Amino acid sequence: MGQTAKLHYEGKEIELPLIEGSEGEKAVDCGQLRSATGLITMDPGYGNTGSCESQITFINGEEGILRYRGYPIEELAENSSFLEVSYLLVNGDLPSPEELATFTESIRTHTMVHEDFKRLFSALPKDAHPMAACAAAVGALATFYPDSLDPRDSRQVEISVHRLLAKLPTIASYAYKHSMGQPFMYPDNKLSYVGNFLQMMFATPCEKYEVDPVIQKAIDMLLILHADHEQNCSTSTVRLVGSSMVNLFGAISAGISALWGPRHGGANQEVIEMLESIAEEGLTAKQFVERAKSNDDTSRLMGFGHRVYKNYDPRARILRKSAHEVLSSLGVQSKLLEIAMELEELALEDDYFGERKLYPNVDFYSGVIYKAMGTPVNMFTVMFALGRLPGWIAQWLEMHEDKQRIGRPRQIYTGSAERHYVPLSNR
Ligand code: CMC
Repeated sequence: MGQTAKLHYEGKEIELPLIEGSEGEKAVDCGQLRSATGLITMDPGYGNTGSCESQITFINGEEGILRYRGYPIEELAENSSFLEVSYLLVNGDLPSPEELATFTESIRTHTMVHEDFKRLFSALPKDAHPMAACAAAVGALATFYPDSLDPRDSRQVEISVHRLLAKLPTIASYAYKHSMGQPFMYPDNKLSYVGNFLQMMFATPCEKYEVDPVIQKAIDMLLILHADHEQNCSTSTVRLVGSSMVNLFGAISAGISALWGPRHGGANQEVIEMLESIAEEGLTAKQFVERAKSNDDTSRLMGFGHRVYKNYDPRARILRKSAHEVLSSLGVQSKLLEIAMELEELALEDDYFGERKLYPNVDFYSGVIYKAMGTPVNMFTVMFALGRLPGWIAQWLEMHEDKQRIGRPRQIYTGSAERHYVPLSNR
């Protein structure tokens, strides 16, 4: 037996094996704990709990390191493309030129959705949030492909993966078009993945949309930065839901819903709303920072803090620089970027944030860039979902390859002891 940890309980000593990752992180394997002692572990919020071994993404939150399949996020953001990163995450290695061409071609040819699928959107109110629409639509994809839903059949899985990667931009743009009361645009497969998405969002049948290369490149990079982040809330949701052997569409739909919350991906929308409300209410950055620190106030400094990063989120560092570059090449002056930088500076000097190791996260600057590019605010979290999709898929695939058992946490019951039913007339 390798290294172990010892647990003393009721006069007995139990040895628990240690598991070590390729970057030296260690875990106590509690797999036999209950059968050996009757004890379970308790860790609400899972701050100390590893749910799986994974070869996909490495994060060192203390040092601010993020790597996909071993490649530093900085190198991928600078040199790669979103489809190449998607291939990397899903397949494990960077593609050869031929592999990338075949993958891209397959995604390109699956961009359209069934004509009847569009009717799904007309059942939704105009002001439906596009995240709710996307979660519903992705779940509904399963109804259109009943012959390729088996997670144990590799050909069915492959086609579902390609369909989903190809169709989510189409679905996302339809969610937006529906909210605008505009006709849906067909995909134009001559365009790039991102160019096509922009065309479906912003063109109309009477007005062509010229894809701006600056915007296209910036969005591609944003998607790369969001592509995976190991066992976060939405990814853990995809794995947990997927462990029931539900099809890929069902698991990803659940992941989209998990991402929507303001403590997770929904924070990017909340950041911009926070910056706008500071501007509208005429607050100073200092006043807002004081509010975010106060126990009596429910407002947090959105876009700050992270469960894993106790240092600057490396994605935020890239986005801070990119925000300046994109805004200057689009010729946009942004009051919101100024407020964001002021908030950051004040928070980084403040003991409250310092003691709690709260730094800007990926959502802090992304919204400023999306906004400057003309992306509607309620689409920000959808952009996050578009980016996170290959990561969710890679994690779902890995979970099945590892033949993980159904996810089923235990609990400590703290409710009433046994009591007996009293008929309504006697209560
Ligand atoms: N502003 C003010 N105080 C904060 C903030 C913040 N943004 N974040 C954490 N704190 C405080 C919190 O009040 C608590 O203080 P105390 O110890 O006095 O009670 C302490 O810091 C620890 O906070 P926590 O909520 O226990 O930490 P957590 O690891 O459970 O939560 C978080 C992490 C990201 C949910 C949280 O930092 C947060 O709500 N941040 C704002 C929302 C946000 O930006 N979310 C995006 C996360 S990154 C992208 C993604 O993964 O989706």
